[in-house]
Amino acid sequence: MLIIKKIDELKDVLFRVKSNGKSVGFVPTMGALHAGHLSLVGYARKETEIVICSIFVNPVQFNNPSDLTNYPRTFTDDVVLLQEQQVDVVFVPDIQEVYPESPQEVYHFDALETIMEGIARPNHFNGVATIVKRLLDWIEPDKAYFGEKDYQQLVIIKQLVKDYKLSTKIISCPTIRETNGLAMSSRNRLLSENEREIAANIWRILQKTRELIATHSIPQIKDFVATQIAALPNMRLDYFEISENKTLQPVQNFKDAEGVMGFIAVFLRDVRLIDNICYK
Ligand code: PAJ
Repeated sequence: MLIIKKIDELKDVLFRVKSNGKSVGFVPTMGALHAGHLSLVGYARKETEIVICSIFVNPVQFNNPSDLTNYPRTFTDDVVLLQEQQVDVVFVPDIQEVYPESPQEVYHFDALETIMEGIARPNHFNGVATIVKRLLDWIEPDKAYFGEKDYQQLVIIKQLVKDYKLSTKIISCPTIRETNGLAMSSRNRLLSENEREIAANIWRILQKTRELIATHSIPQIKDFVATQIAALPNMRLDYFEISENKTLQPVQNFKDAEGVMGFIAVFLRDVRLIDNICYK
């Protein structure tokens, strides 16, 4: 497994790989890898000949400085895990390599970014688009893999690829969960064992909404979620939305809508957790 820090070296390696006609799969990450990330690598391994994974904690997508400082960094363990998954190349640029100057890109995702994470985390998606666009331009992979755990991000990346007519195919991959149902996330490392048990209720509550949605109105479901979350120790609801799965716009009438999902963000202490559920 090659560990590459420089863009020029990465491009040299990719030139050789592509001259040999090999397909390239790419998994962008911010490290602190867990089974969710590794599942993306697994899909890439199955579908493409050369697998590249990047690890870069992208400062411009953090709207909260303490979130960036506290973000877990476990590089040595990450490299071992990627080696076990038979990744071919790990790209780990430093900040100077990615942003020699402060990035100025401005992206517009219209209605996709004026809801949910877009409101809760101003500029977050501009930062995500900035790094993902740069990585896709440098690597030009055949396929890039993203998790449904960050569903709004996935939809926005698909839009980015469409807007810029990039040749990479975006592959969406299902959310991997702990046995108690908690969606795996690098931020779970910031929780105690007890807090992770409390956090598992997020998925239980979402599953309960799947039972209720056919017989209750959307405001009733929202009230239910708000009450259930408020009853959990140290937990605070940021938002819960029932939305259309392509436009991400709130659904007014469940029965008439097609492709509907529930989206939740909570704070457990000061750790922000997101999850989602597919209703139909
Ligand atoms: P990060 O949070 O490290 O996630 C990297 C990829 O792993 C994302 O596509 C995310 O959706 C996916 N992922 C995370 N948890 C998952 C889970 N439990 N099941 C399945 N997939 C999961 O998302 C980012 O990094 C960054 O925003 C990035 C795209 C790398 C740009 O900086």
